[in-house]
Amino acid sequence: SSSVPVITIDGPTASGKGTVAHRVAKALGWAVLDSGALYRLTALAALNRGLPPEDEAGVARVAETLDVRFEGPHVYLEGLEVGHEIRREEVGNFASRVAAFPGVRQALLERQRAFRLAPGLVADGRDMGTVVFPDAPLKVFLVADVVARAQRRCKQLIEKGISANLDDLLRDMRERDARDMGRTTAPLAPAADAHVLDSSDLTIAETVQAILDFWKNATAD
Ligand code: CDP
Ligand code: CDP
Repeated sequence: SSSVPVITIDGPTASGKGTVAHRVAKALGWAVLDSGALYRLTALAALNRGLPPEDEAGVARVAETLDVRFEGPHVYLEGLEVGHEIRREEVGNFASRVAAFPGVRQALLERQRAFRLAPGLVADGRDMGTVVFPDAPLKVFLVADVVARAQRRCKQLIEKGISANLDDLLRDMRERDARDMGRTTAPLAPAADAHVLDSSDLTIAETVQAILDFWKNATAD
């Protein structure tokens, strides 16, 4: 399957990875892997079982036996639609804590690689370019100023009818950034061969176009 092209889009929370990955995939007619959803699904399954976030062996077992299905915009855990539930802050924070465990990351590795199917895949997350698809022909590391990211997330939550406070978001975001960058296993970092793209002052459309241009250049030579 390594002849199937992958575009990896890694970066911190609310840098726009998910939105941009979906639009790039749509433009190319490719599939998309939201790897963060797998960590969130693991977190939700562990929370449902009452496991504490310190139980590395228990959470790794949950990841190994995860019963999930992706269908368009829908995500199912053990047959139940949980698309909204996995977006909860509590689930994201639990996910970020257990994502530091090597056993959990190992359990999800092959599951992520199985998404690499013709004609191509756009994969977003933290370690798509460094660990999961190190041979990807195009790697993007999407960054944006933390205040811009907190404002985006705040607006996104309020539009969904979820109450949000900018100062709380900013504090949680700094905490999550530090945890994702500071862990020993697969820390959040650009691959040596990644294009670092700062979207602080770019619209979504401009960011998508920049990535499509990278892809055009990558395939031209
Ligand atoms: O997947 P990730 O957490 O990196 O971010 P996202 O959920 O795709 O984007 C977070 C929010 O920022 C969404 O509401 C996007 O519409 C918005 N956004 C933006 O306003 N400008 C950008 N250049 C990128 C994203
Ligand atoms: O939407 P947001 O960017 O906040 O988070 P996400 O992409 O849904 O991921 C949730 C958590 O899972 C992150 O804080 C990471 O700790 C972890 N994660 C990871 O470790 N590796 C990935 N490839 C994707 C997510």
